[in-house]
Amino acid sequence: MITRRDTVSRLRAAAREAVHAANLLGEVALAEMYRAQARHACNPRTLGVLRQIQAHEATHACEARARVRAPEALLRAAEAAARLGGRAIGTATGLLGERPALAIDYAIERLGALGYRAGLALVDSGAESERRVLERALAEEREHQNLIRDRLGI
Ligand SMILES: [Fe+2]
Ligand SMILES: [Fe+2]
Repeated sequence: MITRRDTVSRLRAAAREAVHAANLLGEVALAEMYRAQARHACNPRTLGVLRQIQAHEATHACEARARVRAPEALLRAAEAAARLGGRAIGTATGLLGERPALAIDYAIERLGALGYRAGLALVDSGAESERRVLERALAEEREHQNLIRDRLGI
């Protein structure tokens, strides 16, 4: 017999899986977006910030991939699409100039942090290592916001 608790647990697991998948594709897109923006950055300090954030997002993508259980072919196709989208956004924003690009990055970083807050809300009580990974990623997303704000002088 399927109990109410079973149903809630399954729904929670499905929601968690969806959040992890969204975080994975977001991170893949962001890593590519920052890589593309870095190609247009002239200011060495901004370039350093973009490269630092890009490296974090690439790590976050690897960590998120380990949490997503989906067919490999589907994951690869979704990641390729995310990369393409990230590259397009990065190129377009990079061409806009440093300040508009960073302002857009700041808004995107705030969204990225929401994804980790959602992931943390759905972690099972016993999954401490998963919680730690998500907490570290969330802390780094906040660091990204601070780095970008610093470059924007806001
Ligand atoms: Fe990230
Ligand atoms: Fe970030």
